[in-house]
Order: sequence, then C-alpha cells, then structure tokens
Amino acid sequence: MKILLLGKNGQVGWELQRSLAPLGELVALDRHSTDFCGDLSNLQGLAETVRAVRPDVIVNAAAHTAVDKAESEPDLARTLNATAPGVLAQEAHQLGAWLVHYSTDYVFDGSGSQPWKETDAPAPLNIYGQTKLEGEQLIAKHCPKHLIFRTSWVYAARGGNFAKTMLRLGSERERLTVIDDQWGAPTGADLIADITAHAIRHLRQRPQDAGLYHLVAGGETNWHQYAKYVLAQAQQAQAATNIKATEVAPVPTSAFPTPARRPHNSRLDTAPLQATFGLTLPHWQQGVARMLTEVLA
Ligand SMILES: NC(=O)c1ccc[n+]([C@@H]2O[C@H](COP(=O)([O-])OP(=O)(O)OC[C@H]3O[C@@H](n4cnc5c(N)ncnc54)[C@H](OP(=O)(O)O)[C@@H]3O)[C@@H](O)[C@H]2O)c1
Repeated sequence: MKILLLGKNGQVGWELQRSLAPLGELVALDRHSTDFCGDLSNLQGLAETVRAVRPDVIVNAAAHTAVDKAESEPDLARTLNATAPGVLAQEAHQLGAWLVHYSTDYVFDGSGSQPWKETDAPAPLNIYGQTKLEGEQLIAKHCPKHLIFRTSWVYAARGGNFAKTMLRLGSERERLTVIDDQWGAPTGADLIADITAHAIRHLRQRPQDAGLYHLVAGGETNWHQYAKYVLAQAQQAQAATNIKATEVAPVPTSAFPTPARRPHNSRLDTAPLQATFGLTLPHWQQGVARMLTEVLA
C-alpha cells in the first residue's frame, strides 16, 4: 500500500509518520517539501503531487489551525481547510484512492451539555469551524471513499500545547486563572494516529464503513480541571519540576476575550467509532499522564 501524508510535522502528522510506516510505502510531505509539493495553498501543485505519487491512501493532517488568526485571514483559512481538501478529494476519486482527513468539534455551536453525534446539525461559531465544515462537505461530495475524524483539544509531547503552557505558567506564578465553562476531552495526537492506522486496515476488509466519525479520548473535563490535573501530576513528579502555583482559580470564558468565539460544549459522542472499528477509547487522563511523563523526564 502507498500512502501520501500531508502535514507531516504537525502534532498529528508527526505521530502519523510513526503509525502509518508499517502499513506500506509512506510519502510524507510538509509545506516546505521540495521533492513533491505539500503546500495546501498551492492547489495546482497539490493536484500534481497526487497524480505523480498515485497513492492508495491520502492522509491529510495539514490545516489552518490558528483559530483566532483565521478570523482575520478567512481567505487563507478557507483555501487550506476547505478548497485544498476538496482538491484532494477530487484527485483521490479520480485515482480510486481513499482520503483520510481530520475535522473538529468547532463545527458545532457548543449549546447544551450532551455529547454531539455525527448526525447533529453543525453550526460553527467561528471562521475556523466554518471552513473546516466546508472541507468536510467538499470531501463528502467529491470522494465517497473517505474517512473524516472530528477530534478536539489535541495535544502531543512534541510542539506547544495547553498542558505545557500550564507547566510553564505554574512554575512562574503562584496563582493561575483558567476557564471552567468549556467542556471537552483532551485527545492525544498519538491516539488519533494509531486509530487512523487501525481504521485504514479495517477499510480494506470493510469499505462500507467509510464516513464521518467522532474521535476523542474517553471521559470529559473543562480547561480548569485539566490544568489542575496537569499541575498535580507535575507536583507528584517533583524531581523534574518546580511548580509554584498553589491556586488555580476557575473563571468564565468572558474573562479571556478572544477574536474567535469558542463552543462551551465540545463533548463528542464516539459510540459509532467504537462500535464500527471495534475500539475502546482510553480515558483522557491516561494519555495526558503519559505525555507529561515524557515532557517532565
Ligand atoms: N489542535 C487541535 O486542538 C485540533 C482540534 C480539533 C481538530 N484538529 C484538526 O486536527 C488536524 C491536525 O491538527 P494538529 O493539531 O496536528 O495541528 P498542527 O499541529 O497545527 O498541524 C497543522 C500542520 O499544518 C501545516 N500547515 C499549515 N499551513 C500549511 C500549508 N499551507 N501547507 C501545508 N501544510 C500547512 C502546519 O505547518 P507549519 O507548522 O509549517 O505551520 C502544521 O504542520 C487538523 O485538521 C485540525 O484542524 C485539531
């Protein structure tokens, strides 16, 4: 099997380089690649790459993920998050290849407190969510052989993330304030990558399981509880860290105004993913603890 991976150096892309390698020949690109074009803003170059590589599976981990910045550069966000995935879908369909893509909890408006199902109506609150939704729709329109995983609150040992920011702030300040009214599940890039590899293998036997799935770790939390968990774990590993923060105070989202509105309820229902692919999703604390062990080592 030949796999074309785009966005190889992002959080998920980096883990995919590991998890996809045993499946076959992997051509992994980022936007600076010179052997083939991996730049999502170069639509012609992207199409030419697919035609030259002729993969059996395209995995697109690249995206415009700067949620606040997207508000001031909607055209670029739309090109990367919608038009380019649409081009990949058309090219994949021409070849008879599979397209695997990632989307977001931000396609929902965050109302209520129930986990969102794949069948619930999307209503994005910001440009990032709107353009990611348009990307989903273009893929569904042009390439029936697709898998789209909507995920949330992604972290990885490599690169910056919320947990690492809390470790830094916790070593600088005695008191932190963290939002407690946005709910979801921190999800490891390694988990997303491993499930992607599993699902690609599964589709070889059961192509009828193509489609859109919610993929997040088990359990739920808010940013305040997540921060407290991170700092408590760091304090237990005292030899490696120096946490000063003795108080983590909960505040509402309104305490930290941002250009992009964010959903309060980012819970995603993963029952279809677990049932279809025969998976059990580990609790979010398990993956975060593992990532902290790596970064605090
Ligand atoms: N991060 C989250 O919390 C989150 C939540 C829900 C869904 N998702 C989705 O999950 C997927 C993976 O996200 P992630 O967390 O791995 O994001 P990430 O770490 O920000 O990675 C995104 C990658 O896209 C690349 N990229 C940006 N512009 C590009 C261009 N013009 N051409 C090619 N590549 C370009 C970036 O490269 P540079 O580093 O060079 O900019 C980066 O390597 C995305 O589809 C995202 O929308 C993420």
